[in-house]
Amino acid sequence: MSNRMHQVSEHLKASSQFNNVNLAPPDPILKMNAIYKADPDPVKISVGVGAYRTEEGKPYILNCVKKAERMMLDDPNNDHEYLPMAGLQSFTDAAVKLILGADSHIIKENRAIGFQAISGTGALRVGAELLNRFRKSIAYVSKPTWGNHLAIFGDCGFEVREYQYWDPATRGLNESFFDTLRSAPNGSIFVLHGCAHNPTGVDPTEEQWKLVAKIMKEKNHFPFFDCAYQGFASGDLDKDAWSVRYFVDQGFEMFIAQSFAKNLGLYGERVGNLTLVVHNPDVLPKMHSNLCKIVRAMYSCPPAHGAKIASLVLNTPELYKEWTVELKAMADRIKEMRVMLFDLLTEMKTPGTWNHITDQIGMFTFTGLTQNQCKTLVGEHHIYLIDNGRISIAGLNTKNIRRFAEKIDWVVRNIQ
Ligand SMILES: Cc1ncc(COP(=O)(O)O)c(C=O)c1O
Repeated sequence: MSNRMHQVSEHLKASSQFNNVNLAPPDPILKMNAIYKADPDPVKISVGVGAYRTEEGKPYILNCVKKAERMMLDDPNNDHEYLPMAGLQSFTDAAVKLILGADSHIIKENRAIGFQAISGTGALRVGAELLNRFRKSIAYVSKPTWGNHLAIFGDCGFEVREYQYWDPATRGLNESFFDTLRSAPNGSIFVLHGCAHNPTGVDPTEEQWKLVAKIMKEKNHFPFFDCAYQGFASGDLDKDAWSVRYFVDQGFEMFIAQSFAKNLGLYGERVGNLTLVVHNPDVLPKMHSNLCKIVRAMYSCPPAHGAKIASLVLNTPELYKEWTVELKAMADRIKEMRVMLFDLLTEMKTPGTWNHITDQIGMFTFTGLTQNQCKTLVGEHHIYLIDNGRISIAGLNTKNIRRFAEKIDWVVRNIQ
């Protein structure tokens, strides 16, 4: 009886106005994570999701973040009121300083503003929406790139093209990138990863960045920097901002999407900022008003909690100091895991060369494993990674790395 009561009649089902909706393809990384979570095997390893894990394999809440949250709890003036459409200004001002450098002449000349966004993804999205309204052109993203770039620019109405970035032969930067910069229509938008390129872990050298800037200048291309890993790549916030600051010094106008998901461990709080750098300070209030119009219609105003945490960390000298130490510790742990993995594969004489593991930078390594090798690791060895061979080094620790290396060794020897 109760079963019958819960059944939906075929007639009612057939009357739905949404029967024409097809299933959208799942996100490969999130799908992989769901399969990992459902696996009961105690020795399972996840190197799929790009989120930092401690030596114990656990998510990490930074001490500076805990302290900031305590300060908020103790502050009688803290509340849960709406933020303005452009977000928390003490946070966005600090985020602009963080990426451009506190004593940047651009800030002194009022040629930069920040606009709070829903993490790095939201900063890219509102930036792309603004560009689409006022500076429509072709948008180029790297191949391969972080899974969302194509979708974000495509959904904003851009024609999106790819520039070859990865060279499988050298497991480094593909020289044809420079040819694409030269052959792209003048005034194209190029999405550039400021540091710690996702998924390849390959960053241009300073010399290569200089060449990128030189060609982009000649061609009047527009740089849209995606900075999701400032401080996380080298462990040094200024060093990781080198590429952006070099482009600023070369006189570019540009957009910069900043995420505080990784470097402050605030993944789910969605803390981000869009920095606009322009030649004419007079246009900034106008651009700001149009960003407000865009977000008003999308989500009205950004979330407050994470922005308040970030603002306290960025603006309180003791917390900022502690942050830099914790950031370096996270980056160092990742670097140690890279060295350990390289040493283990070398010790086992795993066929192939593996120096790219220590040459690459940031959370990810593009291993060069084939699709079949990746599928075998997932299907038979409880090692979860996406099948382009990208691994998140943060998923490795001293307890699981030997088993991980042994399984890599096995698939390389036995699977094509
Ligand atoms: C290159 C790149 N850009 C942007 C993001 C956006 O991250 P979030 O929206 O969580 O800040 C990520 C996250 O993995 C990324 O790797």
